[in-house]
Amino acid sequence: MSGSLLVDNIGELVTNGVGEGPLGIRRDAAVLVEDGRVAWVGAAAYAPAADRRVDAGGAAVLPGFVDSHAHLVFAGDRAAEFAARMAGQPYTGGGIRTTVGATRAASDDELRATVLRLRGEALRQGTTTMEIKSGYGLTVADEARSLRIAAEFGTETTFLGAHVVPAEYADRPDDYVGLVCGPMLAAAAPHAKWIDVFCERGAFDVDHARAILACGQAAGLGVRLHANQLGPGPGVQLGVELGAASVDHCTHLSDADVDALADAHTTTVATLLPGAEFSTRSPYPDARRLLDAGVTVALATDCNPGSSYTSSMPFCIALAVREMRMTPAEAVRAATAGGARALRRDDVGVLTPGARADLVVLDAPSHLHLAYRPGVPLIRKVLLNGVPQ
Ligand code: NIG
Ligand code: FE
Repeated sequence: MSGSLLVDNIGELVTNGVGEGPLGIRRDAAVLVEDGRVAWVGAAAYAPAADRRVDAGGAAVLPGFVDSHAHLVFAGDRAAEFAARMAGQPYTGGGIRTTVGATRAASDDELRATVLRLRGEALRQGTTTMEIKSGYGLTVADEARSLRIAAEFGTETTFLGAHVVPAEYADRPDDYVGLVCGPMLAAAAPHAKWIDVFCERGAFDVDHARAILACGQAAGLGVRLHANQLGPGPGVQLGVELGAASVDHCTHLSDADVDALADAHTTTVATLLPGAEFSTRSPYPDARRLLDAGVTVALATDCNPGSSYTSSMPFCIALAVREMRMTPAEAVRAATAGGARALRRDDVGVLTPGARADLVVLDAPSHLHLAYRPGVPLIRKVLLNGVPQ
């Protein structure tokens, strides 16, 4: 669709740029969109003419959510595992191998249909940028096809061959690390922007994680990792040391981990995934401690069939506010600009001139309602690249 579009009559505009408070809020505002980009932001009274108009009706408008952590390429579900957890079983990550079996047995079209369904769910809940990981194939061919399919849906694709050691390599993990760093990385890299490792007891130790991430970096991939989810460990500090864009989960942190993330030279974001704590009935990460130390925090869904089968960023915002002592403004910022930082993007997560015109119109007068009205479908309209969805 060509021509200009004016989103007008915005009661509260969250820009994450210049404006009131940490969200850069502007009142009674308008946004002009041209060629998929934000061309102008200002007072509605001074809005330039445009070819078309969207009337926000006095509602709040936000940048689309940036979900920087999701595992969408898989088959099957693990509802029975969820039920068992709710009856008292702990989460160990052991169910990942169940999903690996189902994913290997699925056709490309089945996998594609699942990604399409989840991406659609997320879009309807305001997510306009979504990272997608592989990690349920764990063979050269299955990781490569997972990433090929992921790349059909966007540019934020992540090679997670080091999710767990698959059953056939259970007694020779060094050989599996060799496979990941060698032929699997070679097959995955053309379709991936990032490399990720599940650095955790029972998955990959710090030496394996370091080796795999270094190979990925040498192949031109950016680094992110799953760290400190199930217990304390060296993952967060490894991520900071390697200049990772993001360390994700951060549920069990030492003071030294927080200091490393807060260091003025650190560009690594702490991405918190409260859907995982919700769905595994685990203690939530202490977002307040990170924010008070000056750490940049992102919120993401971790959408996957095991530990967090939600595609809803509004749900994660509500959890972060209620359970993690984030203010509503901090949570909204973490779900937009924070996610963009975690993906090293400056063209999304903000509504300032030059940014992508990815925005959501709420069925509410203020961003506060995202946490204040949990579970309510508050996303009235989504513009993706300037195009109403
Ligand atoms: O981020 N922790 C590792 N990976 C996923 C869970 C995957 C699964 O249980 O299938 C996570 O929580
Ligand atoms: Fe994850």
